[in-house]
Amino acid sequence: MTTSQALLVDCDTGVDDALALLYLALSPDVDLRAVTTVGGNTDARQAAVNTLQVLELVGRTDIPVAPGADRTLRGSLPHYATHVHGDNGIGNVRLPSPAAPPVTVDAVDLIIETARQAEGELSLLATAPLTNLALALRREPRLPEMIRHVTVMGGAVHHPGNITPLAEANIGNDPEAAALVLEAGWDLTIVPLDVTMRENLTTATQRDLLAHGSAASVFAARVLDVYFDFHEEVALPYRGSACHDPLAAAIAVGHVTPLLAPRLHVGVETGDGPARGALVADTRGMYLSYPERADANARVVLETDGRFPERLVERIRTGGSAAA
Ligand code: BDR
Ligand code: CA
Repeated sequence: MTTSQALLVDCDTGVDDALALLYLALSPDVDLRAVTTVGGNTDARQAAVNTLQVLELVGRTDIPVAPGADRTLRGSLPHYATHVHGDNGIGNVRLPSPAAPPVTVDAVDLIIETARQAEGELSLLATAPLTNLALALRREPRLPEMIRHVTVMGGAVHHPGNITPLAEANIGNDPEAAALVLEAGWDLTIVPLDVTMRENLTTATQRDLLAHGSAASVFAARVLDVYFDFHEEVALPYRGSACHDPLAAAIAVGHVTPLLAPRLHVGVETGDGPARGALVADTRGMYLSYPERADANARVVLETDGRFPERLVERIRTGGSAAA
């Protein structure tokens, strides 16, 4: 018998957030308790609308969705990524307006309340700037004791950044928030660009999704057009994309077991110089197979097998009903 895992996702939906949500919502062993959104790829409200639309595609109108912070801890707007994710955040694909609006409770309260109700069983997955999580830690300092595990998609360790030479978007958009989350003392896994850039969606992925013909698989295929345009232009030598948030989702729920994930001390650069927003992972033990040091605060995923995209497609194909 499979036990279902209670999970709250904090995201900035986002093409790859949308695919991660589909993956999780279609996984029978995942109990998706709530989704909160934050400014990142788009503003928090648009991200909440996108989330509701995506969840409705697979009939999941039961999941509360709450928009949260639109500004970083320092009070600035994040650098929206419409050039990556399209004007509406979901690849300019138009979906029907959601049947129900987001819940009226604030995202930070929803995180705390969901944790409280789950009595130690709730895990968090953050696929966006960490502002909501940082605010939740400020509002409820006992949150780390209430949470089972935290997985964060973000940062770059032995890999270049994607918004600056050193900073990745989710960490770099709100470094002060990331610093609070890294220092909170909870059981933490980080899924950086080192692995998400090496799990690649391709035109074959798109073809397989389209061929299935369900509402979810056709959406998943179409949403990749704009995303592939961006990657082809600036990031990859072929038409395709990285697989950031879905990979983090699969690691969070134990569907992907990393090949290499040492426990390291990880900090974040919060100064205003060129390294602002960079993850500072202590990888000095790399030639000694990363012996664990006393100050380690996170498990950092450095290698996966590169085969997750096949499983993502399979989940979306088999989870949703095929075209009639
Ligand atoms: C991360 O930034 C966002 O644009 C993506 O949705 C992902 O969470 C990758 O750097
Ligand atoms: Ca995201």
